[in-house]
Amino acid sequence: MTSSSGPFSLDGRVALITGGAKGIGAGVVRMLAEAGARVAIADLDIAEAEALAGGLRAEGLEARAFAVNLADEAQIVALVEDVSEQLGAPWVLVNNAGIQDRELLLEGTAAEWDRMNAINARAPFLLTREVARRMIAAGQGGRIVNLASCSLAGQMIKGLAAYMGSKGALAALTQASALELVEHGITVNTILPGGVGTPGAMGAKGPPAEGPARRPPPLGRCEPIDIAGAVLYFASPVARYATNQVLCVDAGWSVS
Ligand SMILES: NC(=O)c1ccc[n+]([C@@H]2O[C@H](COP(=O)([O-])OP(=O)(O)OC[C@H]3O[C@@H](n4cnc5c(N)ncnc54)[C@H](O)[C@@H]3O)[C@@H](O)[C@H]2O)c1
Repeated sequence: MTSSSGPFSLDGRVALITGGAKGIGAGVVRMLAEAGARVAIADLDIAEAEALAGGLRAEGLEARAFAVNLADEAQIVALVEDVSEQLGAPWVLVNNAGIQDRELLLEGTAAEWDRMNAINARAPFLLTREVARRMIAAGQGGRIVNLASCSLAGQMIKGLAAYMGSKGALAALTQASALELVEHGITVNTILPGGVGTPGAMGAKGPPAEGPARRPPPLGRCEPIDIAGAVLYFASPVARYATNQVLCVDAGWSVS
């Protein structure tokens, strides 16, 4: 069932979600599809992306899977071209895909810094450029939502130098792009998710998780739907006057 009216309706608008096959991204895909969006699921894991898209279509929702490796600029350019040709110019871009492995600072490597930043920061920059060009050409404004991390608000564990470096860059990208895109009616906002038990978080490689974010969040553990709800707000027509904002959804860690 799609909701075709109301302030949170995305009826018929195209939404491109990176890393949408699993975890938080899959929750975002479902919520935006249920709000009526025509969803493009862009992921390295095309089998999972196809399975999710097929399941949503069986429910009467609109979703299509697109294979992409976000480490490759040419594939990002081709992705945005393919989505625009097959579904139309995106009105929503959710920069969700990210990798979360850890490496202690004193053992840190340039290779890991570069790998992390390529996916978590450089890819969102390239996607913002490519999608914003399409949004501007379409002349309808747009919404860009960047998923950073509540580690930027102090909810840290050890081993996050490269990860937090990349997420800090992403949060800064929000600010820079919000300024340059505001005249086109395109908003850009950041969400800082708290801990969510996703495949990426549970399977992250690295040293044992030690640090302030080991304590239990007072409201319980976030689920993908909790983060997806925040994405839907920033992605919706009603959020037209919210840009360059940061929303932390961390189940109360900040008051514990
Ligand atoms: N899970 C958490 O606790 C948590 C907390 C804070 C922030 N975040 C952020 O939220 C976002 C989603 O996290 P998640 O836990 O759902 O991750 P996840 O690893 O469970 O899912 C990420 C998705 O991105 C895809 N992906 C990874 N590399 C890719 C690439 N090179 N090209 C295309 N697709 C690629 C994966 O295939 C996967 O489907 C990430 O940016 C993460 O940093 C997560």
